[in-house]
Amino acid sequence: MKIFQENLYEQLIEDLYLYLKLESSNVSVEDYLISLQSTQRDLWHSLQSDSVSVDYSEFKIQLCYLFRYLIIYWEQIYSGLSEIDNHSEESLIGKSKKNLRIGLFFCGPAPEIIGITNYMEERDLLANNQSIEIDMYDQYINQWRLVRNNFIINSPRLKKLKALGFNFNTLKIDFSSRITLANASKYNICCFQNCINEFWDRNSRIIALNLKKVASEIEIGGYIILTDRIFLKSSAQEIIKVLLKENFSLIYSEDDEIDCSNKSPIPEIVSQNLFTNESGLIATKYNRRFLCILEKDA
Ligand SMILES: C[S@@+](CC[C@H](N)C(=O)[O-])C[C@H]1O[C@@H](n2cnc3c(N)ncnc32)[C@H](O)[C@@H]1O
Repeated sequence: MKIFQENLYEQLIEDLYLYLKLESSNVSVEDYLISLQSTQRDLWHSLQSDSVSVDYSEFKIQLCYLFRYLIIYWEQIYSGLSEIDNHSEESLIGKSKKNLRIGLFFCGPAPEIIGITNYMEERDLLANNQSIEIDMYDQYINQWRLVRNNFIINSPRLKKLKALGFNFNTLKIDFSSRITLANASKYNICCFQNCINEFWDRNSRIIALNLKKVASEIEIGGYIILTDRIFLKSSAQEIIKVLLKENFSLIYSEDDEIDCSNKSPIPEIVSQNLFTNESGLIATKYNRRFLCILEKDA
């Protein structure tokens, strides 16, 4: 039995049902979805602009974010890990018995966890009894907690993941001021997914220093996965330029349009009450994204 469902809309609906029950709410899932429509519209309109400033601190915005993007955002780190596999001789996670450390920067609700778990499940790596330490960093790490803990790693899934060797740590960092990272061993992989709009400023010395700080905390032979929407590729190239000076090589780069909707067809409850096809209420189908992987050289 898979830890995360293939149809992520169905998973969201199931989790929403459990969440409302936990909150002793009398509102039905249908009515709750209808109540999300105006926030969903607002989120869509603000994301039409290139320089996004969405206030991710509100619960309903966060939930709308998941309904709009979860079906596509699990795929990016998943494909990143798969490409790292193609690059290295053996499966990255399976090849060493030592502990694995992954840093998820700007993780928000952390759809990255679904990608990592699916990657491992498909390769039968979960039986390795390897410890997988995941550090999750975000400016609003605490504000995202309710959504993350009810819609991504809810308690039954957390229990299963912990039994398989996962351990999750959360750390609040604001990338626009000097950052301090978790003080442990170096990272095998760090991931920056869908955050370039939020943090990159080519004129900021502090942001470049923070990027270099993360780079210095990755072990030799470790990787950075950088993935975002295609229209942000030129900013990604500026980030890559900084990393190339920090002893990294670009080992993989692709631009692609990913269609995840075949894995997550829209259930009727969602098409009738949330994504009704009116303006601002059209479900996401494609992710036009790039995926870059950098490896730290000796
Ligand atoms: C678009 S979300 C991406 C979340 C996740 N990586 C994904 O793929 O769905 C961007 C995240 O950046 C965080 N963020 C925005 N500004 C930040 C800053 N200055 N420092 C750290 N995190 C920040 C937000 O809280 C939000 O969770």
